[in-house]
Amino acid sequence: MFHKADIHSFAIISAIFVSVWGAVSARAATAEDVYLETCAVCHGAEGAGQTARGKKLKVKDLRSSEVQKLTDAQLTEIISKGKGKDMPPYETELGKDGVAAQVGHLRELAKKK
Ligand code: HEC
Repeated sequence: MFHKADIHSFAIISAIFVSVWGAVSARAATAEDVYLETCAVCHGAEGAGQTARGKKLKVKDLRSSEVQKLTDAQLTEIISKGKGKDMPPYETELGKDGVAAQVGHLRELAKKK
């Protein structure tokens, strides 16, 4: 039933599928994707906070020196535990590494300004 060549091409197609799938799922895990999905609704894609919700909640520009002068430990604490009544805690959702990745992303946003 199965010719040797069929099995061979099946193996090649599977290998291609696996590597494409790997690339797609690896990309989905970038800090920027998580930020855009989770934080941008309030803080804006660039961190300026000029979204409807961001304006309503009067969020600060995350790229401002006021926010950027906070240490990595302080940013980690805020993102993990939340702040005030409107900034939600993300410790459970993102985990320790995910929170650390967001701290890194906030530093990157400030560099791009
Ligand atoms: C529902 C809206 C909302 C979402 C979603 C949100 N935040 Fe916030 N965030 C706020 C508000 C409001 C504050 C200001 C809290 C205060 O000072 O009382 C804040 C404050 C902060 C601060 C401290 C800067 C400051 O203003 O003092 C950081 C850092 C921060 N957010 C990062 C994030 C990150 C990273 C995410 C996503 C993982 C996120 N936020 C998601 C609303 C939000």
